[in-house]
Amino acid sequence: MSKIVILTGAGISAESGLGTFRDENGLWAQHRIEDVATPEGFARNPDLVHAFYNARRQQSSAAQPNAAHMALAQLQAQHPGEVVIITQNVDGLHEKGGASKVWHMHGVLDSALCAACSHRWHAAEDMHRRTLCPSCQRPAARPDIVWFGEMPYDMEQIYAHLAGADLFASIGTSSQVYPAAAFVHEAQAAGAHTVELNLEPSSLVSSFAETRFGPATVIVPQWVNEVIGQP
Ligand code: OAD
Repeated sequence: MSKIVILTGAGISAESGLGTFRDENGLWAQHRIEDVATPEGFARNPDLVHAFYNARRQQSSAAQPNAAHMALAQLQAQHPGEVVIITQNVDGLHEKGGASKVWHMHGVLDSALCAACSHRWHAAEDMHRRTLCPSCQRPAARPDIVWFGEMPYDMEQIYAHLAGADLFASIGTSSQVYPAAAFVHEAQAAGAHTVELNLEPSSLVSSFAETRFGPATVIVPQWVNEVIGQP
């Protein structure tokens, strides 16, 4: 029974109304990474960083999963082998679309993390510099998001899944951020067939055995139907 490992990025949520990072008018055209997505930026100006993630939390909680998220959930439900979803996204839309087990390597917006004692709890819609950790009572709440310079979550389990992959699909990511960008090489080394599904070729397009280009809501359901053998 074949094992499918899927990596997703911001492009899968674009048609749910959530901005990507590196497209024209993307988030990184409007905000400086070093201000809102690094531990140093948070230490310098926690209010600015909280405001950035508060706004993203609000947008994400209002967003609905699209046909691509739902197709991957269908794949998980119908494929006889294991289907592992690894996402760089922090929006929670895979679960809202019915996916059962998702590895959130860059964290999630609806989780808060205590910078002092590492306790995690469900984030309120708005956090600020005075938000107290419910465990140690210190005002050290931060978004439970992996920032540049920090280690992505669950890497040991993720590499173990990649090492066992028969089919690897990269969906809606520009393949510019490591370690996720290198997953295709891990999967290839494990002997997996590799496929890129994206609006346009990513920077690592030549590393994939197969490529499909178009909006995720069109190409992902088509691909899923092929994999599960439906017309
Ligand atoms: P990017 O913004 O870098 O790339 C989004 C990709 O999605 C691009 O290749 C687009 O062509 C593609 N895309 C856009 N609209 C699409 C659509 N409707 N259907 C299919 N594809 C579409 O986003 P990521 O690759 O996810 O990390 O970025 C990776 C990481 O960089 C993020 O997780 C974030 C960011 O900095 C952190 O914040 C730690």
